[in-house]
Amino acid sequence: MKGYNKGLHRFAFFTACCTFLLIIAGGLVTSTQSGLSVPDWPTTYGHFMFAYPLDQMVGGIFYEHSHRMIASVVGFLTVILAMWMWRKEDRRWVRNLSYVALGTVILQGVLGGLTVLLMLPTAISVSHATLAQTFFAIVVTLALITSKWWRSDQPLLQREGKKNSLPQLILITAFAVYIQLILGALMRHTHSGLVVPDFPLAYGQLFPSLSPEAMDQYNQQLIQSDIRIAADGAVTQGQIIIHMLHRFWAVITAIFIAWTAVRLLKLSSQSKRLARLGYVLFGLIVLQIALGALTVLSLKAVDVTTAHVATGALLLVTCVLASFHSIKLSGKLSGKLFGIRTQHQTAVSFSPGEVSA
Ligand code: HEM
Ligand code: HEM
Repeated sequence: MKGYNKGLHRFAFFTACCTFLLIIAGGLVTSTQSGLSVPDWPTTYGHFMFAYPLDQMVGGIFYEHSHRMIASVVGFLTVILAMWMWRKEDRRWVRNLSYVALGTVILQGVLGGLTVLLMLPTAISVSHATLAQTFFAIVVTLALITSKWWRSDQPLLQREGKKNSLPQLILITAFAVYIQLILGALMRHTHSGLVVPDFPLAYGQLFPSLSPEAMDQYNQQLIQSDIRIAADGAVTQGQIIIHMLHRFWAVITAIFIAWTAVRLLKLSSQSKRLARLGYVLFGLIVLQIALGALTVLSLKAVDVTTAHVATGALLLVTCVLASFHSIKLSGKLSGKLFGIRTQHQTAVSFSPGEVSA
């Protein structure tokens, strides 16, 4: 097939899988509070990173140092991917996207280093968490657009009657998930995860009162139930607001995901791929809400909390994949710019408001 490079696609896919592992490794660093277990960067206790003795990789150092090593491998893979694209990829936008991936991974490494050197400032830790998800989405996109499926002729999605709004809907859903990931990162790095200890209610209310008396009561309750100690300092109204925003936006995000998934499932007779993505979205959102609730109820058990971060990343990339699928199959973008090959006519009938392939 013209332009399809199996090796390049497989390499992009492999890089995406390694990036997912890296996100889990990063999530473990935060969940185990090992962020400052190695105080220097780019060295590790004065050693060149790859020469650090394995027998000294214990406790938090294990998580922090292995995260750095996996990050270096992913950085190296991204350099190779960009060079391979530069040599072999015929579409300029795809080459450019691989350069964006390279720039992102470099910036991400620098943010990781700064997070250590500046002792985990909230803004840098939140940016590091958010850019990680962004980088993952870019690499997954590269894996998709180098695939045989993307490069081959596909029946163009057609609409009848109402405007075809599927790509817009999925893009809005992806945006909602992205906002939720940022809110999650804020929650994590402002230590707001356990400032509301019950679920689904919050201190027995839909939205907890923020009066000074109520705040005193919450602080006492958190100390009595051993969730916090006095030395942690008092919980602030800002922390409660961040926590509640994450819960509130989870509802909005879930509605958009369910809506998108239903639209995708309705297309099952025309596009098995879109329907499969719909099922995956359904499964992931149910899992993610359960993990979010368990994160609170298990008092941030390391495995549950890290799984919540990882599932968040999977939700984002599934939305990104669904967006690109719907864009290609709807013929929304210029074939010249995006190198999309589509058949221009299919005679499949479908119900109004739906797209079909
Ligand atoms: C490709 C590069 C990298 C990726 C994709 C990545 C990804 C991540 C992710 C997903 C987290 C978890 C964030 C969270 O749960 O909120 C994390 C945490 C962390 N990463 Fe990275 N990372 C990368 C490179 C680095 C590098 C080079 C360092 C250098 C020291 C680093 C240091 C850290 C630290 C210290 C944390 C914990 C931050 C905290 O607890 O506040 N990362 N990383
Ligand atoms: C659409 C659904 C949801 C998504 C996509 C989502 C995503 C995330 C992500 C990605 C993080 C970590 C961000 C980072 O540091 O990189 C996070 C943190 C968190 N989420 Fe969610 N979340 C969702 C729903 C919920 C729900 C319903 C709850 C229940 C209260 C919840 C509770 C938490 C908690 C407590 C944290 C902070 C954990 C910590 O402090 O270590 N999440 N969320």
